[in-house]
Amino acid sequence: MARVCVTHSISDLCPEPNPLATQADTKAATPFVRIGGLETLRRITDRFYDLMASDPAYSKLRAMHAQDLTPMRASLPLFLAGWSGGPRDWWDANPGKCMASMHKPFAIDNATASQWADAMQRAIVDVAPADAEIANALADVLANMARGMVNA
Ligand code: HEM
Repeated sequence: MARVCVTHSISDLCPEPNPLATQADTKAATPFVRIGGLETLRRITDRFYDLMASDPAYSKLRAMHAQDLTPMRASLPLFLAGWSGGPRDWWDANPGKCMASMHKPFAIDNATASQWADAMQRAIVDVAPADAEIANALADVLANMARGMVNA
């Protein structure tokens, strides 16, 4: 069985993908495969941005983003794909780009980080990947990452 890591910190976002995913036993499925690949990551991120755009509980988070969420709907699943041990398209297209530094211009307080984590958790629950263990681990790890981005 692939390792399920729930201990990531913000340092895992910079500069390389999830190191435990890339160290996964080659005989075992990576987290990327277990979650259902790019198709499932796209469904989760689409649901995440749908929730962000429609639920007033996330209005502070929504206001930080550009009016057009199309680029984010394309970017976040590709980021998550490479980070979870799948295709590295986002990383190849953004050599040296540091996710932690990229977020520094945004004033992220506890409230906005919680909104991000909550919307993502709901999106994962709504999409309901077949492998519930990796789905729960993904939600936990992403919530930890969001909390690690608090800078205001
Ligand atoms: C802590 C709460 C977070 C806030 C408030 C936040 C906010 C933002 C904002 C405002 C943008 C720019 C969007 C735009 O231009 O429309 C962005 C981009 C992005 N964020 Fe976050 N973010 C958070 C957490 C995260 C986490 C935990 C991840 C990764 C798992 C992440 C991944 C990304 C990616 C991949 C991009 C686009 C980068 C690119 O391809 O240029 N964010 N974020």
